[in-house]
Amino acid sequence: MQDKNLKFKTQNSKLLKVLFIGDVVGKSGRRGVKEILPALRKERGIDLVIANIENIAHGKGISEPTVREMMGAGVDAFTSGNHVWAKKEGIFLLDNPEFPILRPANYPPGVPGRGMLEMSVKKQPVVIINLIGRVFMKDDFDDPFRAFDSLLKTAPKNAIIIVDFHAEATSEKRAFGFYAGDRAHLICGTHTHVGTADTVIVNGRAGYVTDAGMTGAEDSILGVAKDGIIAQFLTQLHARHTMVDAGAVIFNSVLAEITVGKCVKIERCDMILNKERG
Ligand SMILES: [Fe+2]
Ligand SMILES: [Fe+2]
Repeated sequence: MQDKNLKFKTQNSKLLKVLFIGDVVGKSGRRGVKEILPALRKERGIDLVIANIENIAHGKGISEPTVREMMGAGVDAFTSGNHVWAKKEGIFLLDNPEFPILRPANYPPGVPGRGMLEMSVKKQPVVIINLIGRVFMKDDFDDPFRAFDSLLKTAPKNAIIIVDFHAEATSEKRAFGFYAGDRAHLICGTHTHVGTADTVIVNGRAGYVTDAGMTGAEDSILGVAKDGIIAQFLTQLHARHTMVDAGAVIFNSVLAEITVGKCVKIERCDMILNKERG
C-alpha cells in the first residue's frame, strides 16, 4: 500500500502543467492577463506560464514596463514574432538576460536576441523554442523546420521541448506540428490572433494547436479598432490603427499536461473579462 502511494507521488511530481497564452495585445491584453492569470494559475496548479508578447506595448513591440507588468502577473517566459521589433527601446530587452524573452530563432544571423531558452521547472529541464513561418510572411526567413532540427541538437536530452511556431498559414503550422511532434512536447501556433479549435496530441507525443489566439479587446479586429480596418479594406489605403483599450477582453490560451515522455492532455483555456476600464 505504501509503495503504491509513493509511486503515485513520483509520477505526479513529474507532471508539468503549462499554460500558453496567445498574443497579448496592448493595454486590454495586459489587463486580461493581470486580472485572470493569478487566480487561474492557483486554481489549475499551473507550473509554467508562457505568453507571446509581440503586440504587448500599444499593439506593436515590447517595452520594459509592459514586460515587467506581465512578469508581475505570473508569466514566466515570453515568445514573440514579426512585430517584436516595432519599438526601439524593446529591442534592447531581447539581449538582456534579466528578461526571459525570445524572438524567432530563424531570423538571419546577427539579429539581436535569442530564439531558444533553457529553464528549470520543478527541477525538470524545459527548453522553449520560438520559430517563425515563411508562407504569406513578407520577410525572407531561414527555414524554420531545419532550424528546429539544429536547435534540438543543442538541447539537453531529457528536456521538455515547447515550441511557439509564429506563422500565418494553417498548412505550414500543421505541417510543422507533424514534423516536430515526434520530438517536441508542446507546439503552439501564434500570430493570427484567432484561436483554433484543433487542440490535439500529434504523433502520440506532442500537444498541438494551430493558433493559441489573442488576449486583447473583444470588440476589435485582432485588437485594433474596427472602423479603420474596415476602411482599409474598402479603400485599399492604409488607415491609422487605433488600439481598443476599453470594454470586454478575451483571454485565449491552451493548457497542457506534460510528462518527460509526452504531452498527456491539451485543452483550450479561453475566458472573457467583461469589465469596463478602470
Ligand atoms: Fe500578434
Ligand atoms: Fe505576428
